[in-house]
This record gives sequence, C-alpha cells and structure tokens, in this order.
Amino acid sequence: MAEKINTSQQEQLALAAQWLAEANHVAVFTGAGVSKESGIPTFRDAQTGLWANYSPEDLASRPGFLKNPRMVWEWYDSRRNKVWDVEPNDGHRALVALEKWIETQPGKQFTLITQNIDNLHQRAGSRNVLELHGNIFRYKCLDQNHPYRIPEGPLAEDAELPPRCEWCDSMVRPDVVWFGEMLPDDILPQSYQVAREADVMLVIGTSCVVYPAADIPVTAKKFGRRLIEINPEESALSPMVDLLLKGPSAVLLRSLQNEFLETVVG
Ligand code: OAD
Repeated sequence: MAEKINTSQQEQLALAAQWLAEANHVAVFTGAGVSKESGIPTFRDAQTGLWANYSPEDLASRPGFLKNPRMVWEWYDSRRNKVWDVEPNDGHRALVALEKWIETQPGKQFTLITQNIDNLHQRAGSRNVLELHGNIFRYKCLDQNHPYRIPEGPLAEDAELPPRCEWCDSMVRPDVVWFGEMLPDDILPQSYQVAREADVMLVIGTSCVVYPAADIPVTAKKFGRRLIEINPEESALSPMVDLLLKGPSAVLLRSLQNEFLETVVG
C-alpha cells in the first residue's frame, strides 16, 4: 500500500501541486462529487422527491425504459432541467485553469475522464473530456443509435414522448450508459491508455465502486502512476492512493489551483 503522506493539508497541497507541475501528462478522473457543490446530488445521496420511490435500475436501464418510456424520458428531462438551472463550481473551473496552463507547455498533456453525464465540465470550459457514461444532453434512438437533435423551442402540447427517430422511427433515448449496458467502445480503451501513460491522476469525487469505470484509476496505480484523491470521505480507492486530500472538491481544487500557480509561476 502506498505510504499516505500524513502531513498538514497545506503541505499535502504543495506536494500535489509539485507532482502536477512535474508531470508531462496529467489525467483527471471525476465522479458525481465534483458536481455536488453545484447543487447536483450524488448517486449515493438517496433519490429525492418525486423519484424517491423508484430505484435507479427502474429509471436508468433499457428494461425500465421499455416498461415506462414516457416516465423515464420525463425523469431525464427533470435531471436536464436541474442541471440547466445550476452552474459549474470552482472545482470545475480550477480543472479548466489547470488544462489551459498545461496546454501552453510544449510536450505536456492534460486529459479529463469523467463518469458524470451532466455536461458541467464542458460548460465550465473543459475541452479534452472523455465521457465514460455519456452525456444527458445528447440523444440517440433505441434501435440503431441514430443521433437525434431535440427541436428548438417549447414542445407542442400533444408532442409524443419519447420522440421518434426520424430515420427508423424507434424511440429516442438519452445517450447515456444504462445499467447492464457496455461503456462506449471508443472512450473506454482511450481511458485505459491514459491510465497507463499519464504520470499522475487526480481522482475527484467518486466512490470508485462502479466498474469498469472504477478500474481506470486502479490501472493507473498498477502502472506505477501517482494517484492524488480529493474526497471528503474515504473511497474504495483510498487504500492505494499516494495522497488523500480530504474535503469538498470545490474548496480543495481552488486551493490546489492557487498552490499550482505558485509552483509553476512562482
Ligand atoms: P457516488 O455517488 O457513488 O460517489 C460520490 C462520491 O463523491 C463519494 O465518494 C462522496 O464521498 C464524494 N463527495 C460527496 N460530496 C463531495 C464533494 N463536495 N466534493 C468531492 N467529493 C464529494 O458517485 P460516482 O462515484 O460518480 O453510473 O458514481 C459512479 C457511477 O455510479 C455513476 O457514474 C453512475 C452510478 O451508477 C452510471 O451512470 C453508469
């Protein structure tokens, strides 16, 4: 087990900033916790309100969709509306600042791998994003994965929900990975390659219990890469990380951004 540095958090931040500054390839791996301070509940928070008496499997699965297409469509609609109503937080923005600085350095690389489907990294300005579980604002049809674009403006009162694919007339669904489905066959291999090659991986706001996504940081460790975890609680990954920064990611990433700029700019 990697020796965790038991030092004050400031010293831990300084060490994390140093590791990020030294790295030629910085990888970031995020989960729902990075969006918590934007007001988006994590998966481990109980389902609340209207959807409290449905299990995620009833809603985020092909059988659930086939059983109740309109209800599942409306659940995703309510999630989309909730995300539209919030803003990216300081944690998302700190990752954009890190990516922007690294892009100015010849030979350095930055890759963001996210399990989140809320599009908040992209709204904050992140550019090189690998979405392991899809994106709630992208749609495809059920039978042939034809892309679908929601028409502009308010839906007609009598609009059929879910909409129908204009090419094959099958129902339209969100372009997200449902329980029991495979991850995108291009994004997963790219994410494994990043895990093998990046010098350091910042793992933020994830319980690391859902596979194969959770195998990405584990693979980075297997290849001897440094793992820095940011989470207010210990996760399944914590026993193998090199540095565990305990606390909310918006606060810690803002401090890490300042420490990093101190380190690289002086
Ligand atoms: P979880 O809900 O499993 O875990 C959220 C993590 O965020 C936990 O480890 C919390 O301790 C941590 N957390 C809470 N507040 C935080 C804060 N303010 N700052 C930082 N971290 C905080 O969410 P994920 O690990 O992302 O899969 O879940 C992984 C996957 O499980 C999701 O992508 C989804 C779900 O089934 C699919 O959609 C396929």
